[in-house]
Amino acid sequence: MADWKGELTGKRTLVTGATRGIGEAIATAFAKSGAKVAITGRKMESLEPIAEKLSGLGAEVLPIPCHNGKPDDRENLFQSIQSSWGGLDVIVNNAATNPVMTPLAETSIEVWDKIHSTNVTGPLDLIQKFVPGMAEQGSGSIINIASVAGIEPAPGLGAYSVSKASLLMMTKVLAKELGQQGIRCNAIAPGLIETKFSEALFQSKKHYDHFIQNVPLGRHGQPEEIVEAVCFLASSASSYMTGQILVIDGGSRV
Ligand SMILES: NC(=O)c1ccc[n+]([C@@H]2O[C@H](COP(=O)([O-])OP(=O)(O)OC[C@H]3O[C@@H](n4cnc5c(N)ncnc54)[C@H](OP(=O)(O)O)[C@@H]3O)[C@@H](O)[C@H]2O)c1
Repeated sequence: MADWKGELTGKRTLVTGATRGIGEAIATAFAKSGAKVAITGRKMESLEPIAEKLSGLGAEVLPIPCHNGKPDDRENLFQSIQSSWGGLDVIVNNAATNPVMTPLAETSIEVWDKIHSTNVTGPLDLIQKFVPGMAEQGSGSIINIASVAGIEPAPGLGAYSVSKASLLMMTKVLAKELGQQGIRCNAIAPGLIETKFSEALFQSKKHYDHFIQNVPLGRHGQPEEIVEAVCFLASSASSYMTGQILVIDGGSRV
């Protein structure tokens, strides 16, 4: 891992969905770089071991249970961070859900609403809560973890695919609207990364091989391979960059 210490030491960061996978890897990198890290997941029991790990790296950690789709949880998250740190420098909207694999035309509106409240409304609400503080300090970096499924349609993952496309457009709209206030907003679109989220694809050799044959690098990615780009976007190394999508997918869209 590159040394981001000079850049991220003391930064107040939030990583949603940090109990495992990509979010845990990002939170770990932030902690190693000297940042303060607020982490979320739905249950305190899942957050506690991660908080302990990050504290062991010397970081100041705020583990806060927050279901991304629940307005009261998001308000509690906001209030907790405000009372501890008075605001944020970096928001990583990473938490997301995809409870079904069904064609879009057969996806129930109940499931559609659940996916969108967690993957789209949740990130926007958190951004809306923290933006006034970022505007006052004249700086902030918002990083939305989207997906290549938000760029190209993913049949069978339709509602998820639409939610990630929404997050990508949200990124661009916010970049235009918030740039004058010194707030940058960028997104990362991972391809297939080995986590619990993607485990279904790993369980079918046929589907996995079919997917990987379109990846020029010939393999799937690991959560740690998303981290450097997030640190870059969180830091002043990307100070003249906003509204962009960094695709990290082994080249599958080439
Ligand atoms: N893995 C891939 O191939 C891949 C590809 C493209 C994009 N992505 C994106 O990368 C991000 C991270 O995914 P991952 O692969 O690291 O998944 P993961 O290992 O399953 O981790 C998901 C994280 O999100 C949390 N989470 C799930 N539902 C939540 C909710 N309703 N409210 C709050 N937290 C919630 C989970 O915590 P708890 O369960 O403890 O609540 C966990 O910490 C997601 O935005 C996903 O769409 C992943």
